[in-house]
Amino acid sequence: MNSAIYPGSFDPMTLGHLDIIKRAAKMFDHLTVGVLDNKAKNALFSVEERVSILKEATKDLSNVSVDSFNGLLVDYAKQNDIHVSVRGLRAVTDFEYELQIAQTNRKLSDGSLDTVFLTTSLEYAYLSSSSVKEIAAFNGDISQLVPDFVVDIVHNKLKNK
Ligand code: PNS
Repeated sequence: MNSAIYPGSFDPMTLGHLDIIKRAAKMFDHLTVGVLDNKAKNALFSVEERVSILKEATKDLSNVSVDSFNGLLVDYAKQNDIHVSVRGLRAVTDFEYELQIAQTNRKLSDGSLDTVFLTTSLEYAYLSSSSVKEIAAFNGDISQLVPDFVVDIVHNKLKNK
């Protein structure tokens, strides 16, 4: 089976992420959205919450599943027989960081895990999870940035922090 993983922090997922998921799902038999369980990063949402949001957002995409992983991406990919990692590129500023991760993963996996880049749709080129959190923290409108059901989840989370 031609499988791929779309790894990330997804704290929280945005419409930009969903755009990449939908496009990648058309290219592969199966796409796993892999949520990094990184205790070192001070995430707003727990890994369980991030997985649950992604599951709801992708429930109509029959070849997409959502899972979490900790440790190295190459180890998760090897355990699950996945040989392609999908990442979105928003602008040239993303490129240097993404190139470094892609080369590192290829080296660490002895060439078994390659990276495919999808250029983010122009309407989401400016969008990031960090900007969603910042806008919401100042009571701004995030309804154009995240799926509808995520708007209140983000505002409530920030209120109860
Ligand atoms: O959404 P993000 O935070 O840009 O995603 C980064 C992610 C999760 C893709 C990357 O940090 C990752 O794969 N981390 C897992 C640890 C790992 O494999 N590191 C080696 C590559 S530098």
